[in-house]
Amino acid sequence: MGKIRLGIIFGGISTEHDVSIVSGTSVIKNLNKEKYEIYPIYISKEGKWYHYTKKIEEIDLLEIGKEIEEKKEIANQLDELKKLDVVFPVLHGLGGEDGTIQGLLELLKIPYVGCKVLASSIGMDKAYTKVMFEKANINQAEYIYVKKAKENYYLISKDFSQKILPLELITEKVEKTIGLPVFVKPSNSGSSVGIRKAKDKIELEEAIGYAAQFDSKILIEKNITGHEVECAVLGNEEVIASSVGEILAAEDFYTYDAKYKNQESKVVIPANISNEIIEEIRKLAIKAFQAIDGKGLARVDFFVGENNKIYINEINTMPGFTTISMYPKLWEKAGMPYSTLLDKLIQLALEEK
Ligand SMILES: Nc1ncnc2c1ncn2[C@@H]1O[C@H](COP(=O)(O)OP(=O)(O)O)[C@@H](O)[C@H]1O
Ligand SMILES: [Mg+2]
Repeated sequence: MGKIRLGIIFGGISTEHDVSIVSGTSVIKNLNKEKYEIYPIYISKEGKWYHYTKKIEEIDLLEIGKEIEEKKEIANQLDELKKLDVVFPVLHGLGGEDGTIQGLLELLKIPYVGCKVLASSIGMDKAYTKVMFEKANINQAEYIYVKKAKENYYLISKDFSQKILPLELITEKVEKTIGLPVFVKPSNSGSSVGIRKAKDKIELEEAIGYAAQFDSKILIEKNITGHEVECAVLGNEEVIASSVGEILAAEDFYTYDAKYKNQESKVVIPANISNEIIEEIRKLAIKAFQAIDGKGLARVDFFVGENNKIYINEINTMPGFTTISMYPKLWEKAGMPYSTLLDKLIQLALEEK
């Protein structure tokens, strides 16, 4: 049998472009070159597609913030994709983790690693992820959902009815119903971009305005203090969950810098929580994955608050993929080395053909 023609798409148009470069180069470096003929496809921030022309054997993972230099523009993206047996879209955020690239690959009938269109878009959009988690009866932090359109803010009820409300009244409602501090997030976000913690009403107003620069849909969430933990899931119909890892963020919360720049941030596997809670979280991670109709992989993130109460935070359908990222590390601890994990993910993609 010849080698599998594998496309690795990375970079991308989202705010997580830089993170994707690190994930993508890390995947390429660790793939079994005997098994795969690798086609690295780099998407610039502007959305231009390029061949990454560096010799495959010499590709090493790039530091965060480093750009791809050896590149040649791809004249016809569709022709390029049609050459491939399978694609691993190592893209985070909009234009990659949100179902758009998945839709393109569906149309071209090319198998790909990870979640399909629907699960990808639900997982990307925090407001809709929450709806699915509610339906699945998985506990999460109390929240208020707001939309911005043409300078007006709309309060969106749980039944999706909406009313215009001045920002002062929204902040008042937040204070009365969920209490400060809160987390304010653009609904479509990742890597903590656009997210702020607000301690008072002034910070809250500012945080809402700031989040609105990234997405017209905004979530305001109760602050949960406790352990921040993550669980990896893998599989199509038969889904397995890894152990649970804990984040020890070097800053007030797990900000972009704490994630990728601050060497003081640590991950601990297993998390500093009881085995009982770990088991509970593993079950919930699979439940959450199935609730969004996940395929292939996801990292499911939780908080363990007071009295060991578990809150689901989010599901990442294309989690960070560097050798030190939580997703591959959780599997490594479970006895599955990084390159075996990559083989498994590609095999799961080909099964779905
Ligand atoms: N409700 C919350 N309570 C406490 N910390 C939170 C809460 N929501 C988010 N955070 C902190 O903010 C970080 C980023 O938020 P998250 O929802 O995970 O967004 P992203 O998709 O950008 O990772 C989390 O890793 C956590 O440190
Ligand atoms: Mg997160």
